[in-house]
Amino acid sequence: MSSLFSTLKRQPLLSRQYRQLLLRRYAHTEANGSLETSYKARRDTWFNSTILLLGFMPIFTFALGTWQLQRLQWKVNLIDELQEKLEREPISLPRHVNLSVIPNFIFRKVFLRGKWDHEHSMLLGPRVRDGLHGYHVVTPLVRPDGSTVLVDRGFVTKDSIEKGMSRQETGEVEIFGMLRTSQARNVFTPDNHPDKGQWYWTDVTAMSEFAGGDRAGVQPVLIEQIFEAGTRLSQGIPLGREATVDVRNAHLSYVITW
Ligand SMILES: *[C@@H]1O[C@H](CO)[C@@H](O)[C@H](O)[C@H]1NC(C)=O
Repeated sequence: MSSLFSTLKRQPLLSRQYRQLLLRRYAHTEANGSLETSYKARRDTWFNSTILLLGFMPIFTFALGTWQLQRLQWKVNLIDELQEKLEREPISLPRHVNLSVIPNFIFRKVFLRGKWDHEHSMLLGPRVRDGLHGYHVVTPLVRPDGSTVLVDRGFVTKDSIEKGMSRQETGEVEIFGMLRTSQARNVFTPDNHPDKGQWYWTDVTAMSEFAGGDRAGVQPVLIEQIFEAGTRLSQGIPLGREATVDVRNAHLSYVITW
């Protein structure tokens, strides 16, 4: 961190250039005396804007750098907080989930039991993993004594989907997962078309509606299934993600750039 600071502090070197410019401008005015006033006036305007630009550059870049440092600190704190949540003991999801408290439990590990509702499975994607094309399978999990929730079971290859391999598990299953929310969309994210079975991003509300909604006891709660290890990909069983926090942290590179 200290090296970052010294990089930033070195930037005001530019202000020496600024001082030289001021001196040169002063000398220039002296030598020319009162010659060609109108020409000089135009030159002055040009000079002023250049000086203004050069003068503000270090201040501007320093401010940007400082701002990025603050953002970096904020991101680091956030990742620490999420990582800490991830390491806590798994919680078991209550029968009826109070949706307003979900934000406090994001990334907490949860333990669930139930049966898959394969009929309402959704294919999220397309996605690529290890060079293989496929989808993430989101399947409602019908819990015997509680509300149905959505589970992102992970990646399945296109080939396995066509063979129906992701529908193998029919009995009661016990799963570990992480509590998630809807994905943040950006301008490039296409709209979902539930009627055509096209899901490009996890819209938890729309997905729970698709699975039957409130009437069928489906709550807009999304769990991302996690696995400790395994070779499930070859068996065509959806492969969940590793239990890591993946908030992108690009601010460090911004700090160095600016
Ligand atoms: C849900 O949690 C919030 C915040 O803790 C609380 O105010 C609210 O009463 C809870 N709702 C239900 C239905 O329990």
